[in-house]
Amino acid sequence: MMRNIVAGNWKSNKSINDARDWVSVMDKDMESLPIDVKVMIAPPAPYLASLVSLSNSRLLFVSQQVSATQSGAYTGEFTAEMLVSCGVDYALIGHSERRASYGETDEVVCKKVRCSLDAGLGVVLCCGENLDKRDAGEQEQVIKDQLSSALDGVNALEMEDVIIAYEPIWAIGTGRTASAEQAASMHGFIREWLASRFDLNTASATSILYGGSCKPSNANEIFASEDVDGGLIGGASLNPEEFQEIIKAASSL
Ligand code: PGA
Repeated sequence: MMRNIVAGNWKSNKSINDARDWVSVMDKDMESLPIDVKVMIAPPAPYLASLVSLSNSRLLFVSQQVSATQSGAYTGEFTAEMLVSCGVDYALIGHSERRASYGETDEVVCKKVRCSLDAGLGVVLCCGENLDKRDAGEQEQVIKDQLSSALDGVNALEMEDVIIAYEPIWAIGTGRTASAEQAASMHGFIREWLASRFDLNTASATSILYGGSCKPSNANEIFASEDVDGGLIGGASLNPEEFQEIIKAASSL
């Protein structure tokens, strides 16, 4: 079982040329990177099809967005089937930036998860509490609510295609990471929740990534906890060298 994953999320950054350069560097260096780490990247959606055909390594591609509907009269939306037809492997769902600014409610998140799994598209499901909830000590309840709602109707077999990313909102893009203890404790909580919602095997096979200001200087410490299986990396994924340092930190070899 390979649970270690490092996934980059470029958000709305890079030109197509810069994106191609990044993929070429990663393709070239991939053989020297630890083979027990799955490496994934989420470029802006317009670049996906061309980057997928350019890449000739084990790099996996993630869409930052996916529609909550099937094909039809939905201007501007792109479906899970379309992404699969472009060779995309996963979709990021429930990212806090989309929850906060683009109406991605728990209900929408659940629909996106269902559309993706039905289409054979893997899911990177993000969850995370804001600072108020953290200060009030309610972070576990927030995560439990988000996960129960997002995974409503999902069965244990389908969980093979689901990766969870715990991203405390107060740590995203702020330079302030969760401490290794905070990450370990929330990841442990998520794994226990998975065991009670599904079963022990599913809980131990599911990858739980940490996201939020993860970078080469703190990755080793954050990944040291047994329940932290790697990271979802925003800012530090833009530069291939920094990203590679984080991939090395996620290896158990
Ligand atoms: P960050 O972003 O690494 O820049 O904090 C993480 C994310 O939003 O996935």
